Amino acid sequence: MSFSQMEVPCRPELFDFHGVSMISAFTDNWENVQNFKARPDDILIATYPKAGTTWVSYILDLLYFGNMGLDRQTSIPLYDRVPFLEICVPFLPSGTDLADKLPTTPRLIKTHLPVQFVPKSFWEQQCRIVYVARNAKDNAVSFFHFNRMNLVQPDPGDWSTFLQEFMEGKRVFGSKKQTYSNLHYMFYEDLIEDYRREIDGLCSFLGLSPSAEEKERVRASVTFDSMKQNKMTNCSTVAVMDQKVSPFMRKGKVGDWKNHFTVAQNEQFDEDYKKKMKNPDLKFRFEI
Ligand code: A3P
Repeated sequence: MSFSQMEVPCRPELFDFHGVSMISAFTDNWENVQNFKARPDDILIATYPKAGTTWVSYILDLLYFGNMGLDRQTSIPLYDRVPFLEICVPFLPSGTDLADKLPTTPRLIKTHLPVQFVPKSFWEQQCRIVYVARNAKDNAVSFFHFNRMNLVQPDPGDWSTFLQEFMEGKRVFGSKKQTYSNLHYMFYEDLIEDYRREIDGLCSFLGLSPSAEEKERVRASVTFDSMKQNKMTNCSTVAVMDQKVSPFMRKGKVGDWKNHFTVAQNEQFDEDYKKKMKNPDLKFRFEI
């Protein structure tokens, strides 16, 4: 059984989990997640949902395994190559099981867990962590549409209700506000602005030195249009996602929030954001 064969479930309930809004799909395997044995060469891709996780996951997958043969590229969906650590749904292997069985090294592992929930072995093993952030307004819009189309996410309600709850941290994984210094930060907007510069920075963090041709091959595969067409990255095989409501590869743009926020919502968001963002290192980018 795979994601593509899952029965379509009901919309799950949100609940408070140690101060963070969660759904059971991300807490049912808690003990195994917390006791997960990271290896020193694991690479953790840590993001708030909809910040560009899939994009950066695919870039990393291609940088490390792009030359492993066409089979991998055409038959293994990205969600099986880059396990989602905390996910646990009936009839499917949990994220920890998938990660344990990954045949490739380094293991690329994705998480949306807030930093206080990241299993301690990742810190103990001093794993490299790539943290991807995105303008919070665009992130909210993307998450809204994702909640509409993904039936295993709570019902988002209308946009105003969703935005209010997003600001209050009453959406899955709460509201991200914490950063750490020993990670490689990437911003979605920077990737859009200057992909090559960002990949050079990423490669230098990872100690990789791909040839110009390899880099170009990766670049061509990870454009929005390529990934939208690619069944291994566009989630078209995931039954619980109704892509007629909103495609998984939706717009891939900076500033789409302007098509969603009213003037009042924008003012309220700015006010709220200023209060919450205590860390001056995490720049809030309204524009690029
Ligand atoms: P939009 O909903 O704004 O289009 P995640 O992978 O964390 O779920 O993030 C999904 C968001 O990243 C979606 O944003 C999606 O379109 C965007 N995205 C995915 N791949 C992309 C790419 N190659 N280029 C630009 N945006 C991309």
